[in-house]
Amino acid sequence: MWKGRFRQASSDLLTNYSESVSFDWRLFRHDIQGSIAHATALKNAGILTAGELAKISSGLRRIGREIAAGQFKFDPTLEDIHMNIEAKLTRRIGAAGAKLHTARSRNDQISLDLRLYLREEIGELERLVVAFQKALIGLAARHEKDVMPGYTHLQRAQPVLIAHHLLAYVEMLERDHGRLRDCGARLDECPLGSGAIAGSTIVLNREAIARDLGFSRVTQNSMDAVADRDFACELLSALAIIGMHLSRLSEDVILWASEEFGYLELSDQHTTGSSLMPQKKNPDIAELTRGKTGRLYGNLVALLTTMKGLPLAYNRDMQEDKEAIFDSVDTTRSALAVFSEMLRAARFRTTATTRAAGDANLLATDVADHLVLGGVPFRQAHEIVGRLVGLAAQRGVALDALDPGDFLAASPLLTRKVVKAVFSLSTALAARRATGAPSPRNVARRLAFWKERLS
Ligand code: ARG
Repeated sequence: MWKGRFRQASSDLLTNYSESVSFDWRLFRHDIQGSIAHATALKNAGILTAGELAKISSGLRRIGREIAAGQFKFDPTLEDIHMNIEAKLTRRIGAAGAKLHTARSRNDQISLDLRLYLREEIGELERLVVAFQKALIGLAARHEKDVMPGYTHLQRAQPVLIAHHLLAYVEMLERDHGRLRDCGARLDECPLGSGAIAGSTIVLNREAIARDLGFSRVTQNSMDAVADRDFACELLSALAIIGMHLSRLSEDVILWASEEFGYLELSDQHTTGSSLMPQKKNPDIAELTRGKTGRLYGNLVALLTTMKGLPLAYNRDMQEDKEAIFDSVDTTRSALAVFSEMLRAARFRTTATTRAAGDANLLATDVADHLVLGGVPFRQAHEIVGRLVGLAAQRGVALDALDPGDFLAASPLLTRKVVKAVFSLSTALAARRATGAPSPRNVARRLAFWKERLS
């Protein structure tokens, strides 16, 4: 494709080192879509005849069908998907094919292809995020009234509804969805016409090409258009954050599914056994998701690092963007899909969660709050209750099983009647009615909100 200036063929080692068609072939549909739009603009500018455009378009479509059917033989000496397609087209249709690359460079071509590809993938990722939220909501709805301990430092803290814990992830995923949408909106500009770096003396109607390809606008600086991959960094960052959220949920699931917690029952379909220990039922989906999050972070850091020292404009280093992008997109897609399926089949063991939530220590703060309402400064109330907790621990009894006399000795406000009322789990939950707190009424409302919003 550049043989004019060269007298020797490339070394085989160079060919293998620099080819990208073994992975960027995946962009073939987008490459063809872009080339047809470009050819249409060339025709409108009088560079191609209507006949040539027709030949190019049908030739490209045929190549697209062949690649999709696995009948296309890629040639690594032609480096990438762009040159593989163009060379085949030219071999088939001759002169018209050789005109296609007028006023275009692979630099604006790859920037276009990536945007077209990511636009499509972002749409799919958005759908998968919504499906994941729905799976969480389904599980939350099955346990709308069930309680469990909430944890800080992985120590029992205060009681919550299981649904409240699950809906926390729904909120996180909603922000993830927003990040995907933002990224899609920012990459929605057509770079075609930027050429290698400085556009072309053959001026095409860029706005018409953009419209043709469904972009909202065109890029405004030819160097920026071919040099930056911030849109890819942004997507990899959004996917790394999704990975972080899924990884934390994975950790919750792994803990909950352990014998020690015994909170969650995963289906046989979504767990694996051990080749050695017959009793094992392992939460591999959650573990793999937690593990794959490392790859999502790695891909982001790899691309940021690749980009950081590059002078403007295009540099070949940028070819390294693709494997990171493909891997993060594929990994996130499969993680979202398989995790959703696992959640749809999962059930909480409510005997265990209810028993754990019945730990009276979870309501120690509620006792302190009662003292505060009686006029005791919170720091003092905290100390009074702390001493009661210590006493109960020393005696090996639950906090609410201390003698009425112990409570009264700690504070005259802690009468038998008050103690009984404060240690009622349902009263304690119902009292948590500030916006965002887990009173059953709040949680039911939020659940209804999400059901409606995501339907
Ligand atoms: N395969 C190249 C890439 O992914 C396409 C652009 C090549 N441009 C060039 N001037 N060699 O970045």
